[in-house]
Amino acid sequence: MRQAKPLKHVPTPAYVIDIERLRQNLAILHDVSEKSGCRVLLAQKAFSAYDLYPLIGQYLDGTAASGIFEARLGHEYMPDGEVHVYSPAFRDEELADVLLLADHIVFNSFSQWTRFKPLVETFKREGRTHVSCGLRINPGYSEVAVEIYNPAARGSRLGLTLEAFRHGAETVGLEGLDGIHFHALCEDSAETLERTLDHVYSDFLPYMESWPGGLKWFNLGGGHHITRDDYNRPLLIDLLCDAKKRTSAAIYIEPGEAVALNAGVLVSTVLDVGQNAEHFAILDTSAVCHMPDVLEMPYRPRCRVHYADGGEADGRMPSEAAYAYHLGGPTCLAGDVIGQYAFPRPLTAGDRIVFFDMAIYTMVKTNTFNGMPLPAIVTQDGADIRVLQTFDYEDFRMRLGS
Ligand SMILES: Cc1ncc(COP(=O)(O)O)c(C=O)c1O
Repeated sequence: MRQAKPLKHVPTPAYVIDIERLRQNLAILHDVSEKSGCRVLLAQKAFSAYDLYPLIGQYLDGTAASGIFEARLGHEYMPDGEVHVYSPAFRDEELADVLLLADHIVFNSFSQWTRFKPLVETFKREGRTHVSCGLRINPGYSEVAVEIYNPAARGSRLGLTLEAFRHGAETVGLEGLDGIHFHALCEDSAETLERTLDHVYSDFLPYMESWPGGLKWFNLGGGHHITRDDYNRPLLIDLLCDAKKRTSAAIYIEPGEAVALNAGVLVSTVLDVGQNAEHFAILDTSAVCHMPDVLEMPYRPRCRVHYADGGEADGRMPSEAAYAYHLGGPTCLAGDVIGQYAFPRPLTAGDRIVFFDMAIYTMVKTNTFNGMPLPAIVTQDGADIRVLQTFDYEDFRMRLGS
């Protein structure tokens, strides 16, 4: 396996970002953009490794942020890219700062728009912002099976339902607004996007067609699994071209996962092995601190052992190999277990376990519960390995007091 040698030498735990794979993903996204004319933004909530923003900025058009901090990160590290900001609710003091950085702001409600419209207009009059504002709609349709990841679930706070939109359009009006945003997908196919767009058009197209001054932009959010092997990219390109034709607006998508899909691993070391009712191994990485989606979603990441005395093997289902272990973290949480995996030979302290697809929604979600050290951040570009960042006691301490 290509990563075997270098992974022996990185400090653990460590996120190792695969630059080659990142480039491949970015080339695919750039191709979609070229063929469809749509603009593609990096959703930073999934992947915010800003050392790589200069590379990402060569392929994508900018960044999508969830608030002032991500907006600032995108502005500082991808300075030539557009900065788009959406938040379910902005704080008063936050919005003034966002206005100075953002190209697009997406409001979640007519009440937020009404609250901030005077500030937007003042900043525009004074030449302090060139921002273009829009609203997030909720299509009321989604195929996301896991409820906590379903933005269009019944009762969702994310985006205006048709009823809320209609009421706002009649009472507040759409003057001063330029665009529409929706996000209702998660790891979804182009076919799912097509069905979702059918719902969007059937409910909202009349508004889009009669928008005061014309609709300037239409943002189809994230959740498009574009860089997955079986993703139907020709259909996506057709849908994006069709969206342009129907709305005459600039079309945007803001994928997160697709940018860094399979472009990173989490490397850990076995600290100890033991047996109670069953065999277990304790690693220097923790599910709850370093890969919380494993517990939150939950899901079972793929893994591979690199034995200290040489040789490698995939982690298999418990019945599929001779030696099965519950792989757990060194925290006190009983449930800090990544899963049960079987290997062809016993594990011993010093073996390394590599967990796959750990660039997205992991590095951005770490915490120091139990005083756990944060994983180092490493890049691998062929044989070139760089340790970008290591963390120590100070990173734990500074978040807890003066
Ligand atoms: C508004 C918005 N845009 C973009 C994304 C990125 O989605 P993904 O990483 O699934 O592509 C998300 C994810 O939650 C989101 O909420």
